[in-house]
Amino acid sequence: MDLVTHINELRSLLNSHRQAGRRIAVVPTMGNLHSGHIHLVNEAHRHGDVVVCTIFVNPMQFGKNEDLDAYPRTLEQDRQKLAAAGCTVLFAPPVSEIYPDGLEQQTVVSVPKVSERHCGISRPGHFDGVATVVSKLFNLVQPDTALFGLKDYQQFMVITRMVADLCFPIKLIGVETQRESSGLALSSRNGYLTPDEKQRAAVLYQTLLESRVRLQAGDSIDRVEAMARVRLEQVGFQPDYYSVCDALSLEPAQPHDSDLVILAAAWMGTTRLIDNLRVQLSSH
Ligand code: PAF
Repeated sequence: MDLVTHINELRSLLNSHRQAGRRIAVVPTMGNLHSGHIHLVNEAHRHGDVVVCTIFVNPMQFGKNEDLDAYPRTLEQDRQKLAAAGCTVLFAPPVSEIYPDGLEQQTVVSVPKVSERHCGISRPGHFDGVATVVSKLFNLVQPDTALFGLKDYQQFMVITRMVADLCFPIKLIGVETQRESSGLALSSRNGYLTPDEKQRAAVLYQTLLESRVRLQAGDSIDRVEAMARVRLEQVGFQPDYYSVCDALSLEPAQPHDSDLVILAAAWMGTTRLIDNLRVQLSSH
């Protein structure tokens, strides 16, 4: 596996792969890789002859009071895991390579509407940071295919919109969330949880499953959301949002909508976790 830290080197390496007719698949990450990321790399092998993983803790998507400095940076362990997974190229640039003139002067890619609700309210500017860095990474790697985990469902919808609006010739693949046996979605932020918090955190997914059963049994959206918040609070979560939405627009679901997603974010102690679940209702 080639470890590349500079743009020029990345471009010339990928140009030679492209000239040899190889298809490129990319898995963008912020590192601290867990088996969910490795699952993305394994999936990427099905779509590309060359699999590029990027590791970049993107300062632009962290708010002032968020965990940018504390965010775990584990490049050597990540490198070993990616090499073992058969990744072809690891691109791990320093901040100065991606934002050579700092963040103040950086052109911002902003995706309206789908960025504005849910995490967009709790984390102002977050999705501008994501869309900006992902568009830069897409321009640098010029992949045929890009894979993202669906745990970050709203992020995936933001990137989908951006790819369509900015005419990136890239196929996007959303990969199912990988979970611990308790149901807890794999996330780098799980590392912040104490063993007791981790056990209680599994209730987030259980609550999503219960909500789906209730919705499919005909319970009203308001009632389902309210009951879920109570359930989360019972185990010590502080819910940020818990919202039954249309699966494409992410607008609050209307009674006639049948393709839904429940989006949830909640604090367990000082750790903010997100998760989601798709729900199909038989059309009425
Ligand atoms: O999901 C992530 O890890 C990040 O938001 C991403 C897509 C790599 C952009 O920094």
